[in-house]
Amino acid sequence: MKKIGWTTDIHLSVCDEVTRHRFYQEIRDANLDQLWLGGDIGEADNIEDLLSEMILAVGLPVSFVLGNHDFYFGSIQGVRKVADQLCDRFDHAVYLSHSSVQEITPTVGLVGHDGWADGRIGNYETSMVMMHDYRHIEELAGLGKFERWKHMKEQGDLAARHLYEVLPEAMEKYDQVCLVTHVPPMREACWYDGQTADDEWAPHFTCKAVGDAILEIAARWSDTHLSVLCGHTHSSGVCQPASNILIYTDDAEYEHPRLNRILEL
Ligand SMILES: [Fe+2]
Ligand SMILES: [Fe+2]
Repeated sequence: MKKIGWTTDIHLSVCDEVTRHRFYQEIRDANLDQLWLGGDIGEADNIEDLLSEMILAVGLPVSFVLGNHDFYFGSIQGVRKVADQLCDRFDHAVYLSHSSVQEITPTVGLVGHDGWADGRIGNYETSMVMMHDYRHIEELAGLGKFERWKHMKEQGDLAARHLYEVLPEAMEKYDQVCLVTHVPPMREACWYDGQTADDEWAPHFTCKAVGDAILEIAARWSDTHLSVLCGHTHSSGVCQPASNILIYTDDAEYEHPRLNRILEL
């Protein structure tokens, strides 16, 4: 059995040093075998330092995806490259968006991708929501609403393509598969204050491309259980879109990073 710590939206860049080190101590005290991170760790200009600090401090294998905040004040492409370089430096760091299936135990596999809010659920066309993403991420900044939508869909499709590459292999090989992603993959998993997102907010907080991939692939391997772990909304809830899929969306509070779950697999 392996003991896995799961935490999402830790936003370490808004935490002072004492808070960060208290959090690392909480992780060490949990006696984990591994740590999984659901993204929104920092921003483009500090993620390398913060993630390195955390990996060294916890002394555990760390598998992670990135969230929208991790690209702020930089580019998606640039930060993903930084994540790859960091994994070259640390033997036990895995950036799931660029990785093959990870074996956790002989019966449990892990896959993941950042995902991306792809504007396909709810009503993007009428939504007045203007995310900071649309100003602070290089690839999206300066684009008009509909040009931006095209780019958001492309990012969602990229995430889904990665899952089509890794998830079938994992579902075939293991009894249980865990999938880590930042963005809730469907409206039913997009919680805020006990409610799921309405048409105004859902386009900016869900990745339909990933959700469709999950539903389609899980239906083909109905004897394998799929647990999806995500964040992004900073609000929690659980949904079961199919008999073999459970989606856990976990909450977060700025300046108060904590372990969301300890999984015994
Ligand atoms: Fe967040
Ligand atoms: Fe986020």
